[in-house]
Amino acid sequence: MTERVLIVDFGSQVTQLIARRVRESGVYCEIHPFHKVDGAFLAAFAPKAIILSGGPASVTETDTPRAAPEIFTLGVPVLGICYGQQTMMAQMGGRVEGSDHREFGRAFVEVDGTCGLFDGVWSHGDRHQVWMSHGDRVIELAPGFRPVAVTEGAPFAAVADDEKKLYGVQFHPEVVHTPHGAALLRNFTHTIAGCRGDWTMAAFREQAIAKVRAQVGKGRVICGLSGGVDSSVAAVLLHEAIGEQLVCVFVDTGLLRLNEADEVVELFRGHYNIPLVAKDASDIFLAKLDGVTDPERKRKIIGATFIDVFDEAAKEAGGADFLAQGTLYPDVIESVSFAGGPSVTIKSHHNVGGLPERMKMALVEPLRELFKDEVRALGRELGLPERLVGRHPFPGPGLGVRIPGAVSRERADILRKADAIFIEEIRAAGLYDAIWQAFAVLLPVQTVGVMGDARTYDFACALRAVTSTDGMTADYYPFAHDFLGRVANRIINEVRGINRVTYDITSKPPGTIEWE
Ligand code: XMP
Repeated sequence: MTERVLIVDFGSQVTQLIARRVRESGVYCEIHPFHKVDGAFLAAFAPKAIILSGGPASVTETDTPRAAPEIFTLGVPVLGICYGQQTMMAQMGGRVEGSDHREFGRAFVEVDGTCGLFDGVWSHGDRHQVWMSHGDRVIELAPGFRPVAVTEGAPFAAVADDEKKLYGVQFHPEVVHTPHGAALLRNFTHTIAGCRGDWTMAAFREQAIAKVRAQVGKGRVICGLSGGVDSSVAAVLLHEAIGEQLVCVFVDTGLLRLNEADEVVELFRGHYNIPLVAKDASDIFLAKLDGVTDPERKRKIIGATFIDVFDEAAKEAGGADFLAQGTLYPDVIESVSFAGGPSVTIKSHHNVGGLPERMKMALVEPLRELFKDEVRALGRELGLPERLVGRHPFPGPGLGVRIPGAVSRERADILRKADAIFIEEIRAAGLYDAIWQAFAVLLPVQTVGVMGDARTYDFACALRAVTSTDGMTADYYPFAHDFLGRVANRIINEVRGINRVTYDITSKPPGTIEWE
């Protein structure tokens, strides 16, 4: 069985980063909210080690989160980070107090002891940068613990009970601003907890295939392909697991990128020989969008139409017992939210949302344990072409949200050509992988220009390229001016219908990545 580490979430903004670091060291781990982790949960999960995350609450108040007491008596190594350290100390007989000296951001620890966590990384007398974010601090250690590092604001920046293999750090080893953080976490999982670190994509592939076979048996599975990384990797993995029991459905909404529909059909039907129902529903989508200008209405129409068309296509394909989805781990983590209340909807997202309810089929989600870059690694492991595996994200509603104002086939065709030129130039300049997402937007304004000796009155187009790590925040990509000039020149010369090109330099926030 795969060895696994349990991360108990107390609501920190960076809990997912703990999971990232642990997985990068070759150890499988899962995040679960603190209130779900009790004795029975621990017995079933059988962790090799436990990490308690940080969190926004204060241990000095009653009714704030606590760790299940069984965590400390299970006999497996435990590492408490920030709030996790504080609650561990408080629960085991130490003391925590609110402090006037709050520490946020960069701090320096003085290493004044040795412990398993520091093995081969930090030595007695060293001084190292760490990242802090806390108000409260531990002022009295629980019995059995000794301090091993201090900062100005935290007398117990790191504490250890090597005998019981219990550790606590006030700083955040999971963030990149703690330069040795990953090495410390690796010491915890490998040296202290004895994990082998054999969580690789090759191992995952074998396990995932066995799991799909066990779940599906002789049943039929239908999988929607979007042309993106997640659904493509899911489909190829499923095909390897159950062969002809898989049928894929690809819907051409009329809002895809240039040649995208042909490429998907060629790759899956042609190269992989996967049964594929490809449906050109562009007339239906474009008819429903006719004259609609409100961004949210467009999104709703595209989402609802997709469900109808997919349902039809599924029937044509002979029906199925299971619906496969490329759901990823960030979508399924039930993180603790302290924000309170529902958050405002900025955009209603459309992937295949709503399909499971409508189709009433059991779900197969072979990627639900993976982060995005792990899906890419799995795609490479499965031999998918690099061009697909490394592809920029593309929104479910496609070009529908890149044509502000009314959408038409004519406008989508113009946009497709401009977009393709922009991407081609980005690839040629070797910049594709340095950019999170790049695309063109067709603006609903016509401007006057002069070409040859004639007056033109055509659309303006905006180029957008951003860097980001998760799509939540983003900055515009600082292209050289001659690059932008070259792209603008090509678009205006080669795309009939566009006579002006602008570059969008808005960051997110306050902008969003897509224009609608
Ligand atoms: P925004 O525009 O909200 O986009 O800054 C953040 C990221 O999400 C993508 N996006 C979508 N992805 N369905 C998706 O699967 C959608 O409806 C959708 N809307 C935006 C966007 O391309 C960017 O990567």
